[in-house]
Amino acid sequence: MPLRSQPLAAVSATVEVQPAPEAGAPASVPTHVAIIMDGNGRWAAARRLPRIAGHREGARALRRTIEAAIRSGVAWLTIYAFSSENWRRPAAEVLDLTGLLRHYLRHEVAELRQNGVRLRFIGDRTRFDPDIQRDLVAAERETASNTRLNLTVALSYGARAEILAAARRVAEATRDGRLDPATLDEATFEDFLSTVGIPDPDLILRTSGEQRLSNFLLWQAAYAELVFLDVLWPDFGEEHFAQALADYARRERRFGARPA
Ligand code: IPE
Ligand code: IPE
Ligand code: MG
Repeated sequence: MPLRSQPLAAVSATVEVQPAPEAGAPASVPTHVAIIMDGNGRWAAARRLPRIAGHREGARALRRTIEAAIRSGVAWLTIYAFSSENWRRPAAEVLDLTGLLRHYLRHEVAELRQNGVRLRFIGDRTRFDPDIQRDLVAAERETASNTRLNLTVALSYGARAEILAAARRVAEATRDGRLDPATLDEATFEDFLSTVGIPDPDLILRTSGEQRLSNFLLWQAAYAELVFLDVLWPDFGEEHFAQALADYARRERRFGARPA
């Protein structure tokens, strides 16, 4: 049985307290896989191509990954597509990446909708052009009743900014008398995060050989299993996804409890 499994219908805007997983229980298919899709630039450089070619090929890898997740029975997939720090890249690359996002939103959402994918976006969407912001809202609305795969896309996302925004909103709620600081616990704090209603990731996978989180889901990653693969993101496919899942299935999750 997947750890922390939760029927989709039970997921609402308010975080439900998750049942404590049994320490030492064998892991199987993760309920929630989060992916740091890294290595597009190096893939392109190895072929003497412009970086945008790597990003385009990365979008194809994403399509394969969504299909692999559905086939594997993974219910939640979260992907790191653009970090709050990625705005620091040269303007031309930022323009290429936002252009690719615009294209993806216009041409791929219909197929995702037909395939039962529910889209959510986390991150600071106010930094994108107004037409992209409108398409993000439309994509969430048009896929809101889908339940086959919950796909969350982190865009202009940074975990520290997310936690800071939550802290600010907690402070405001306290100031306005809507929240008693004495009752603030982890579950209540999670109501203020952008991932409200989304279970914590069981497995975080990063491609390209880098072994860091780069400001991704820092709160939610507390007990995630980490898998780092040497493959560059544009080369990622079903076999790598299966390899990560197999690696995960061999892990013993303890959540701080005594080993069995
Ligand atoms: C990941 O690939 C895509 C984004 C961060 C937007 P990179 O562009 O980081 O590729 P490398 O790490 O330079 O190879
Ligand atoms: C992390 O990759 C962000 C995304 C994959 C979107 P980066 O390439 O931006 O991370 P660093 O700079 O190597 O840590
Ligand atoms: Mg990178």
